[in-house]
Amino acid sequence: MTVTADMAISLDGYVAGTDITPDNPAGDGAEALFEWIHNLASWRQRQNMTGGEDNRDSELMREWFEATGAVVMGRTMYDTGEEFWGDNPPFRAPVLVLTRRPRPTLVKEGGTTFTFVTCGIHSALAQAKAAAGNKNVDIAGGASTVQQYLEAGLIDELQLHVVPTLLGAGLRLFEHLSTAPRTLQPVRVVGTPLATHLKYRFVK
Ligand SMILES: NC(=O)c1ccc[n+]([C@@H]2O[C@H](COP(=O)([O-])OP(=O)(O)OC[C@H]3O[C@@H](n4cnc5c(N)ncnc54)[C@H](OP(=O)(O)O)[C@@H]3O)[C@@H](O)[C@H]2O)c1
Repeated sequence: MTVTADMAISLDGYVAGTDITPDNPAGDGAEALFEWIHNLASWRQRQNMTGGEDNRDSELMREWFEATGAVVMGRTMYDTGEEFWGDNPPFRAPVLVLTRRPRPTLVKEGGTTFTFVTCGIHSALAQAKAAAGNKNVDIAGGASTVQQYLEAGLIDELQLHVVPTLLGAGLRLFEHLSTAPRTLQPVRVVGTPLATHLKYRFVK
């Protein structure tokens, strides 16, 4: 079982823009972070759409879908994604949503459930691991959520999809980390015209 985090990031280090709301889910200017995904065959297939490009980027997306057995996300990511994901969200797996405000579990079509966890990151990860079987647990975002798991040393593999854009402002991924050095071993670099996909494993 591997705990992964997989984030689209601008060249200047942002994973979201400013003024994030459900109507502006990525934040100002940050839609560019996700444009590489929209026309991938694997992504479209997961959204019950046909067509799209069957390229290397699409293979990486398919790899994530096939490897991931449970997902942990923050309540802001949930709130900003909920409408877009619709009745049959792309996860098709249990999703544990971190929040301080309890809510009933939501059961969607296709195997996705959203369970709201109010007792912190360790509990959410334990619940996700129990639900994932032999597959990976992915810490899906947003920035605050991934930062906390990074700080706690609970992520095994980090994949960054570096998008060739500069946002200038927004939420940075690598913030609120203590100064303790962390060493990462490069696993893979895949460069395409859409993004540079960097995969690292934390040396523990
Ligand atoms: N670039 C990418 O690949 C990527 C991926 C995912 C998301 N995003 C973007 O990231 C943005 C959201 O990131 P964000 O940093 O603002 O928020 P977030 O991490 O998605 O969610 C933060 C919220 O999660 C809850 N939470 C976090 N830690 C908690 C803890 N330890 N215990 C209990 N609850 C906890 C709190 O919810 P309550 O307020 O309910 O207590 C908190 O307000 C969105 O714009 C989204 O589109 C980008």
